[in-house]
Amino acid sequence: MVEHDALSATRAAYDTAAATYAELFRDSLRDRPLDRAILGAFAEVVAAGEAGEVADLGCGPGHVTAYLADLGLAAFGVDASPAMIELARQAHPDLRFEVGSMAALDIADGELGGVLSRWSIIHTPPRELPAILREFHRVLAPGGHLLIGFSATEDPSLPTQVFDHAVAPAYRWSPDHLAGLLRKAGLTEVARMVCEPQPTDRRQFQEVQLLARRA
Ligand SMILES: C[S@@+](CC[C@H](N)C(=O)[O-])C[C@H]1O[C@@H](n2cnc3c(N)ncnc32)[C@H](O)[C@@H]1O
Repeated sequence: MVEHDALSATRAAYDTAAATYAELFRDSLRDRPLDRAILGAFAEVVAAGEAGEVADLGCGPGHVTAYLADLGLAAFGVDASPAMIELARQAHPDLRFEVGSMAALDIADGELGGVLSRWSIIHTPPRELPAILREFHRVLAPGGHLLIGFSATEDPSLPTQVFDHAVAPAYRWSPDHLAGLLRKAGLTEVARMVCEPQPTDRRQFQEVQLLARRA
């Protein structure tokens, strides 16, 4: 596996923050009906296809992997942070969680019915993102779906913007720019959900979840 500096830094930062992150986000879907809605739609389109497993890439403590499993998907999680994977295994002993990098997945070509990447690309330097999107395409079966979540740039004409994430350096993307990168990787946009920030949110960023399909 090629080790990038950004990935080493992200892994170390999430190893340190893992317990706090798990505590903060364990029940976060409960108060997020729109997130549950798009995860539900993702689960339905994946289940309607032929192929089997769904990988939650950058799964953190595994709460969303478990949500997908509860929706009936054969879901498993992968994360760069061993501490996150340990917490995920403890919380969900019936599910499979592996340490790994989204840039070099230990998954055969075309094996997956679905890929979920929920705020896990945010720490990827923009120059490295195209290779990760090609990796998502490689592991998806034809007709398989990707649901990818990220924060939007304030100005849509800016393709990317750095922001000071609490755990590790992070990036936002313009939704159109990211949709273009997905297209170049062979993934066609099916739908996107853009949530406006709530007054109580610490960061006033739009949150984007983009559903795409491998042709
Ligand atoms: C903001 S958290 C999101 C966790 C979870 N997806 C969620 O929705 O709460 C980002 C996670 O992605 C993981 N991550 C970031 N870059 C990664 C990479 N290149 N490969 C694997 N995991 C990565 C981090 O270790 C961290 O657990």
